[in-house]
Amino acid sequence: MTYDIAAIGIGPMNLALAALADEVPELSIAAYDAKPVYDWHPGLMFDWAKLQVSFLADLVSLVRPTSRWSFLSYLAERDRMYPFYIAERFHIPRREYTEYCAWVADSLPSCHFGTEVAALDWDHNHRVWVLTLRTATGTRQTTARNVVLGVGTSPVVPEPLRPLLGARVYHSGEHLHRIDALAGDGVRHIVVVGSGQSGAEVFLDLIRQQREYRWALTWLTRTPSFAPLDYSKLVLEYTTPEYMRYFHSLDPDVRDRLIASQWQLYKGISTETIDEIHNELYEHMLDGNRPPVRLLPGTAVHNAAKEGDEIRLSCLHRDTGRTVTITADAVVAATGYAAVRPALLKPVEHLIAWDSQGRFDVMVNHQVRLVDGVTGGLYVQNAELHTHGAAAPDLGIAAYRSATILNSIAGREVFRLPKRTAFQSFEAV
Ligand SMILES: Cc1cc2nc3c(=O)[nH]c(=O)nc-3n(C[C@H](O)[C@H](O)[C@H](O)COP(=O)(O)OP(=O)(O)OC[C@H]3O[C@@H](n4cnc5c(N)ncnc54)[C@H](O)[C@@H]3O)c2cc1C
Ligand SMILES: NC(=O)c1ccc[n+]([C@@H]2O[C@H](COP(=O)([O-])OP(=O)(O)OC[C@H]3O[C@@H](n4cnc5c(N)ncnc54)[C@H](OP(=O)(O)O)[C@@H]3O)[C@@H](O)[C@H]2O)c1
Repeated sequence: MTYDIAAIGIGPMNLALAALADEVPELSIAAYDAKPVYDWHPGLMFDWAKLQVSFLADLVSLVRPTSRWSFLSYLAERDRMYPFYIAERFHIPRREYTEYCAWVADSLPSCHFGTEVAALDWDHNHRVWVLTLRTATGTRQTTARNVVLGVGTSPVVPEPLRPLLGARVYHSGEHLHRIDALAGDGVRHIVVVGSGQSGAEVFLDLIRQQREYRWALTWLTRTPSFAPLDYSKLVLEYTTPEYMRYFHSLDPDVRDRLIASQWQLYKGISTETIDEIHNELYEHMLDGNRPPVRLLPGTAVHNAAKEGDEIRLSCLHRDTGRTVTITADAVVAATGYAAVRPALLKPVEHLIAWDSQGRFDVMVNHQVRLVDGVTGGLYVQNAELHTHGAAAPDLGIAAYRSATILNSIAGREVFRLPKRTAFQSFEAV
């Protein structure tokens, strides 16, 4: 059969699509993920880590609070409503959010795991997308009239560190898979690079284990300060659908300038984590006999080399222009993620109308502009920071964006979308 929608990748964004589509019988959908089961950033799944958005930003509630796939529905099914009500917790543990998503993914017949989409092609004669699916048992093909790409972002490691990647130099996304081996290896000095939420959480994990493992720690970042995420109410309105529409209406060069200046909306540390780190530093000071801990803001790694077992980082200080050399046994690169062009698009790259910088040209309804003659719909989730702004990676937009895509594919307002989502008027009118 030819599906109305094939969703590629089942992270939170396409899972929201599958969950909302479950109540639209007129649209057939299949979603595929290469992973064997639903999982969400397992290498950073500290049991104490919290979601950065309210539980109301689950897969469906901001558009369809009555959905069977809401977080509250999950709690009811698990008989946890009273403990949750008494806990009064808006920011739920990350592991609880992941368990909720896994419950949805396991329950929806449209979600297929252990299935990598190896290639996407366009069949001109039948006017359908052709997906090549690779599973443990072999390769097969399926067809769809619309494709929604939700393949997430890829880890970024600074160029000088790339040749050193291995057991002792790794991206923060692998932290919990690697740290036990490092601890067993008796490392004496670990450097954490980067001061987004990942860097902060890795540093917090390492300083909490310092009494046991006696490692010295350096936490350095190119960002001018260990800056907080801006979570103030009127700034949060910059992650609403209303701002997203306004952002999309601007000239591309204005959008590029704005997104760079709005970094504290999506790159920074939660104030709660900053407080916890400060508490740990205070304990470190009181102990007095622990190995040193250094925090270096405004310091960028610009060269790296391995000498024997030692890693030598050459770092540039942004204010003084001075270079410092730091010697370490291990380096955790908490240096973020970026949208990359997925390899599966190779066969259809010539059918996509890329923008002047080789990025997707994404319309306001999240549909990618294609060359004339291709009638199938190609949509993206979380690959449109440059066209839709800081809301693109935010879980708080998942339900709204998925509903927008489903409305567009259905050709009617299947989901009534909230009209007023911010108090501010972003245009001077
Ligand atoms: C540790 C961490 C915590 C975060 N917490 C928050 C938070 O609290 N609030 C917030 O707003 N944002 C948060 N974010 C940011 C963002 O919401 C997440 O990165 C989120 O996972 C993005 O969802 P996604 O569906 O776009 O991508 P992903 O979750 O990365 O999912 C993409 C999926 O696509 C699959 N895939 C890729 N290629 C293929 C292919 N060819 N075939 C089949 N499957 C494929 C992958 O296996 C993966 O499962 C967090 C980010 C990180 C790193
Ligand atoms: N608890 C949670 O919910 C949670 C946990 C983890 C992540 N997240 C989210 O996931 C997204 C990614 O976060 P992230 O922390 O992985 O990445 P990030 O926010 O992009 O932070 C990357 C950090 O690395 C720095 N950096 C990059 N290259 C460097 C170099 N060569 N030398 C020194 N520093 C360098 C960056 O500095 P510049 O500022 O100069 O670029 C920045 O401080 C964010 O939206 C975040 O909020 C959420």
